[in-house]
Amino acid sequence: MQEIINIENDYEKLDRFFRDKKKILLVCGKSAQKLSIYRYFESLKEKTGTEIVQFSDYKPNPTYDSCVEGTRLFKKENCDGIVAIAGGSGMDVAKCIKMFATMDEDKEYIDQEIKDNGIPFMAVPTTAGTGSEATRYAIIYYKGEKRSLSDYSCIPEVAVFDHSVLKNLPDYQRKATMLDCLCHAIESYWAVKANDESKIYADKAIRMVFANMDSYLKNEDEGNRGMLQAAYIAGKAINITQTTAGHAMCYKLTSLYGLAHGHAVALCMEKLFDYVIDHTSSSIDPRGEEYLKETLSKIADAMGCKDIREASTKFSDLLRKLEMSRPAAKEEDFAILRSSVNVDRLKNNPVLLSEDDIENLYRILQNH
Ligand SMILES: [Fe+2]
Repeated sequence: MQEIINIENDYEKLDRFFRDKKKILLVCGKSAQKLSIYRYFESLKEKTGTEIVQFSDYKPNPTYDSCVEGTRLFKKENCDGIVAIAGGSGMDVAKCIKMFATMDEDKEYIDQEIKDNGIPFMAVPTTAGTGSEATRYAIIYYKGEKRSLSDYSCIPEVAVFDHSVLKNLPDYQRKATMLDCLCHAIESYWAVKANDESKIYADKAIRMVFANMDSYLKNEDEGNRGMLQAAYIAGKAINITQTTAGHAMCYKLTSLYGLAHGHAVALCMEKLFDYVIDHTSSSIDPRGEEYLKETLSKIADAMGCKDIREASTKFSDLLRKLEMSRPAAKEEDFAILRSSVNVDRLKNNPVLLSEDDIENLYRILQNH
């Protein structure tokens, strides 16, 4: 069972975790050094005798090689725990280091079976979006290809919420990560793998996003606190269901046009939203078309709308308000985009999508 620690300037709450640790690998980017929680880690040696080894040698959309480098450092320094103060990318790296740390180093880690090695792992999310602190997934790039690793053992043993980390988040990141969270919740709600438990999380997360949105966008403590929670709960939803076509389609937009993940997924979801509404008769969920219509009504209700058409318009209006621009694609891009989508992942999408449908969706989301 994951432990949750909410911090309100009382970092001593964390001491207990470190009392029996000698050396911790701290996975964080350079920007984390400006956060007040970072000061806590700087003083950890005095407080609990725990040494800190920092690993920051990774970039957004992290590579397998970065994870191997981090694993090497973890082992060389004889660390006995991992802490990530990070957004999605650093969290993915920390998860991989945890999973790789006890594997055979003479073989590629990525090909080996993942076993629970019990290495203590604490996560402090620095964005309100990915919900990675609640999920069993790590996404990395291996030889240029996106790979998703999944194992329950990489869900952090302790998740720490400190809303002050969001205070200096750049505006574009603030907006994009919130949209990622909202897309997680909506995709989880309508996913073929959705169950009663995941739908409770998805419903709650959507309501929390809208309830906290104004305050969060104004960078107020209350909104920041609420959005961190919303992202965590949406993470719990996708931890059960995984995502659907919105996420399957968005990765190539990030690599081709440099859009933030949340920006890219929201653009895909805007078009997918209408497509799903218009094609409920092509439902691939064994629970059938009526079930899907009912789910769409529940999504609309959670978004504060009278029906799903209104909800779709509300979603589009939100993207306009947040100035989430569309990329300008060249004709040759469409073949690349079309073939980028993993058809296997579409099996979790509520309605059937052919490769031609996917290409059409990409075409209408471009900037003309
Ligand atoms: Fe996402």
